[in-house]
Amino acid sequence: RISELLHGKEDKVLSKPVEIYAHRGCSGEFPENTMAAFEAACKIGADGIELDVQMTKDGEVVVIHDEQIDRTTNGIGFVKDFRYKQLKLFDAGSWFHPKFSRQTIPSLQDVLDLIKTSGSEMKVNIELKNNVFPYEGIEAKVLQCVHQSGMADSVILSSFQFKSLGKIRELDSSIQTALLFEGIPSNIIEEARKVRANALHSEASFAVSAAGKRTIDAGYPLRVFTINQTDKLEAFRKSGVSAIITDYPGLFLENESVP
Ligand code: G3P
Ligand code: CA
Repeated sequence: RISELLHGKEDKVLSKPVEIYAHRGCSGEFPENTMAAFEAACKIGADGIELDVQMTKDGEVVVIHDEQIDRTTNGIGFVKDFRYKQLKLFDAGSWFHPKFSRQTIPSLQDVLDLIKTSGSEMKVNIELKNNVFPYEGIEAKVLQCVHQSGMADSVILSSFQFKSLGKIRELDSSIQTALLFEGIPSNIIEEARKVRANALHSEASFAVSAAGKRTIDAGYPLRVFTINQTDKLEAFRKSGVSAIITDYPGLFLENESVP
């Protein structure tokens, strides 16, 4: 049973539930990083959402995975070369299915306000996509959106750019941050300490490795991406993984209420 695997059974040490985060919203069934995908995550009862942010020419933080708008909209070009108002004119849903033609690229503020007003207690993992372009000042802008929406206690800021997480920590001593990395690095705890990060976001291979277990034992919550099958659930729970980030939250959540 999926529910048993998520919540554990008699073993008290391992019985902390594994949370389910909707990756780019429910992106397996809705156009990624759109309001439709995040609304679906709210409806299905996900514990959290994950989303990606980039910055426009006029400094608006927007929710889109790629540096370019080509793959997920009907436009062409780099996010950084458009003003926010111009970006809003593109269709961000039809590439996925024509019925989503009214979806546009959301601002981070819009998504945070949506979650806040939904009354749900969902966490929001904001991934700063500043690996290709540094987006000078994006850390402060993201924090401004977070505080403006009153969501400071519900967000986790993550990035592959550890220095950027260090900047966030300098600007805000209490916001939750997470190192995002691939593979099985041996010195990740040291890296986390350097930038005073709170958690780690890794691939499945790290989560079930001895190195992964060590980081969890050292007190770092570990969230694992991007998991679209249920076969490793038991292994994740046994390792002590805190959350699974998936394109298909329904795979993990729909059996939960079955008696
Ligand atoms: O949260 C981790 C995961 O989202 C990183 O990969 O390419 O889907 O942003 P990507
Ligand atoms: Ca991401």
